[in-house]
Amino acid sequence: MKIVVADKISERGIELLRETGWQVVQPAGGVLERELAGAEGLVVRSATRVSEGLLAAAPVLRVVGRAGVGVDNIDVEAATRRGVLVMNTPGGNAVSVAEHTLALLLALARCVPQLSATTHAGHWEKSAAAGVEVRGKTLGLVGLGRVGGEVARRARALEIKVLAHDPYISASVARDAGVELVALDELLRRADFISLHLALGAATERLFNAATIARMKKGARLINTARGELVDEAALAAALRSGHLAGAALDVFAQEPPKNSPLLGLPNVIATPHVAGSTAEAQEEVGTLIAQQVRDFLAEGIIRNAVNLPSLSAEQYRRVRPYLALAERLGALAAQVIAGRIGRVRITCAGELAELSTHLLRSAVLQGMLNCVLEEKANLVNAPALAAARGIVVDERACRREQGFPDTLEVLVSAEDAAPPAREFAVEGTVLPAAAGTSPRTLAIDGIPLEAPLEGTILFTRNRDVPGVIGQMGTVLGNCGVNIATFSLGRRAHGGEALALVGLDGDVPETVLQPIRAVPAVLEAKLVRLPD
Ligand code: 3PG
Repeated sequence: MKIVVADKISERGIELLRETGWQVVQPAGGVLERELAGAEGLVVRSATRVSEGLLAAAPVLRVVGRAGVGVDNIDVEAATRRGVLVMNTPGGNAVSVAEHTLALLLALARCVPQLSATTHAGHWEKSAAAGVEVRGKTLGLVGLGRVGGEVARRARALEIKVLAHDPYISASVARDAGVELVALDELLRRADFISLHLALGAATERLFNAATIARMKKGARLINTARGELVDEAALAAALRSGHLAGAALDVFAQEPPKNSPLLGLPNVIATPHVAGSTAEAQEEVGTLIAQQVRDFLAEGIIRNAVNLPSLSAEQYRRVRPYLALAERLGALAAQVIAGRIGRVRITCAGELAELSTHLLRSAVLQGMLNCVLEEKANLVNAPALAAARGIVVDERACRREQGFPDTLEVLVSAEDAAPPAREFAVEGTVLPAAAGTSPRTLAIDGIPLEAPLEGTILFTRNRDVPGVIGQMGTVLGNCGVNIATFSLGRRAHGGEALALVGLDGDVPETVLQPIRAVPAVLEAKLVRLPD
């Protein structure tokens, strides 16, 4: 296995990856694309732009790990389409970013960098120190997530009144943090200091533009340790030049490093080179976390802090994992039995399973199904998008189960191009304890009770319930040199429709189907190959 670490992360992170015995490459400039050719993992910070083009150079890539929070340097949509998991380390550098924000706030209030520069230059400008106290001032936080929350706690210790605007935070969470939740306009109007702590996206790009900046209180100060693109730099520079704003402290810029930024050189601007998260502690934390996450995903499939899949705790993952295998195999069985193009899939989760990640279970069903019909490889990340691109409608239900197996999953597929009425196939399954951990099993097919292990190669038959069918099928398989591992039967009623799932050993050729179909009572026979 090969992992490319494109940006600088902590030595501990590199060590953790090396301890696996995998090849860990830290490419020098210019050779990244070449190194990515055989890489299954890529680790970056904010410097490497993971574009569609870069992803195209990495055909076997399975995961991009971002040692840090912002993923705006990663084309997450393109990664999802390609089935590449993207994960970050939320919170890993939150305290460092919050501390840098507070450092900038105090430096802005007391003109620390400017006074330091004049003192170094041999001047003793005590009268130029037109500082203000922060005690009693109002700080407006735009975004009250992990970093915003850490800033709020620290600001309150400085006796600062904290307001926040965050549409995703409830009033009670804000109240518990001692923060008054307000609309953006009110925050702009009331705050003496405004600090940005939100992610960059279409809705937040240039949120601070000429119009919003004009609504800020006269003499207010702006701090940005989030992303440069949140602010229209020309508008901010104009407000700082005109005196509408007293100052700005910026750790991030629209272009990094900034070239021809109208903000550089302004006397009331404090600038730092995107280092808010660059403390020894934060780098140790995010480097270690991302190495562990990438390792656990590539070695064991454990998904943590994914930005393009729902995240699960280790405990939730441990519980859902056997059901992911069940879901994938039910999907694969349904896709191989149904005749015609699948147009609709209905997935029903019952029992505790409905409380686990049904999104992941749905993806696993689609993965199993699509891998039977598509050339390109479907996985948990890209299966929903691949299904949507093929026009497959997916419907998900949860139901209570009063009796029988507690946690079951049912997959019902409808074939669209079969002559009406649309042909349907339904299979229900569960996971049972087994000697080697757990065993995915079917419980019923098309409403007919039929318990069978879901593994390896299976012969599926539908027949009339008449004497001698099992014997004839066994003879045919024996004549073809195929050994039967398991034989499970079910029927709707005595003498009516019957089904069999026959587990077969070894490589079974498709040619066995011909003599099986020739057995007079056999109505339908399919060879189903299930994923491992
Ligand atoms: C982040 O998004 O985590 C911070 O902006 C830090 O970025 P960096 O990894 O480039 O220091």
